[in-house]
Amino acid sequence: MISNDLHSALAPIVANYEPQQIIVVTTQNIYSCRPEVAALGYTTLILQGGEENKSLATIQVIWDFLLSHHITRRGLIICFGGGVLTDLGGFAAGTYKRGIDYVNIPTTLLAMVDASTGGKTGFNYGGLKNCIGSFYAPIETIICPMLLDSLPVSQLLSGYAEMLKHALLANDDEWNRLLRLDWNQPDMNALAPLIENSLRIKQHIVENDPHEQGLRKALNLGHTVGHSLEEIQLADLSSNDRWLHGYAVFYGLIAELYLSVVRFGFPRLPLQQLTDLMVHVYGRPHCKCSDRERLIALMLQDKKNEHADEINCTLLRAIGQPVINCIISPNEMNEALDYLFSL
Ligand SMILES: NC(=O)c1ccc[n+]([C@@H]2O[C@H](COP(=O)([O-])OP(=O)(O)OC[C@H]3O[C@@H](n4cnc5c(N)ncnc54)[C@H](O)[C@@H]3O)[C@@H](O)[C@H]2O)c1
Repeated sequence: MISNDLHSALAPIVANYEPQQIIVVTTQNIYSCRPEVAALGYTTLILQGGEENKSLATIQVIWDFLLSHHITRRGLIICFGGGVLTDLGGFAAGTYKRGIDYVNIPTTLLAMVDASTGGKTGFNYGGLKNCIGSFYAPIETIICPMLLDSLPVSQLLSGYAEMLKHALLANDDEWNRLLRLDWNQPDMNALAPLIENSLRIKQHIVENDPHEQGLRKALNLGHTVGHSLEEIQLADLSSNDRWLHGYAVFYGLIAELYLSVVRFGFPRLPLQQLTDLMVHVYGRPHCKCSDRERLIALMLQDKKNEHADEINCTLLRAIGQPVINCIISPNEMNEALDYLFSL
């Protein structure tokens, strides 16, 4: 549901639970910058945010909090935050007492258009992104675009990358509409209808394949390369310079569109348009050519692979025509990474 009136949107939902059985889970950062959290008036668990805290230890903090507040199977968690928080809160809800209800109130563009819908939950483990997780859908996701007014532009761009991916899976009109957004002067009023379209594209795909048996794999476009870029940074504990999930996906889209051009004759124009966006808006990936071997090794262990020792990608024949389960050889991937790092 899309609404800037959080109270009215929540009222019919919370009416079904005893107030002492409702727990809000959020992060320190959100709690400080969004007065809407405290205004909800429910018992609130404030976690440390950040990808580095998307861990089993944080899940245990949530379980312990629920137990110590005597939350029963008739409880409700309100997950108020970005994608890290909604992934963690959803997993904790799905596993506590074999599953209690939860509602997502995403606060980043990325969480609004992607992470908070579709029911994928989980946390990072063993150095691998989202290695442990489950499918456990929220009873409702409330998209409140006004929450984006405190979000830094880099975080908006992170979400915009997932919107670009959705448009590539949908049609030329949506793609061209998205490219018209001017990132020199981002216009929040222009963003709201685009969020709605983007969500609709994702929901259409998820409803047709909730457990990722086929079509839903199309949503992995850009993510085989993207996840490996994120993982290489997770492994590098000394790096203070981590890029955001959407940036990794954005660079992944470039590499995977390159593979789509080579394998399926995908038109070059969208690849050129993404390259222009990289040069003028996102900036180049700070990766070295010598990282290629490690990236390919990480892709070979990706949980999307159906067999060990192969790289599985979603590619495109054209905008709106995804091809899932494309097996890419390490040599082909090497060439795509070469292309990306040489731009
Ligand atoms: N479950 C899924 O289907 C799915 C899909 C895509 C991504 N993800 C996951 O989502 C995560 C990334 O999510 P994210 O980009 O939202 O990151 P995030 O949750 O870490 O939030 C990004 C930053 O923005 C801050 N923030 C959030 N909302 C704000 C607001 N309104 N105003 C000011 N600051 C705000 C947060 O405190 C944080 O510092 C990754 O872990 C990724 O794996 C999950």
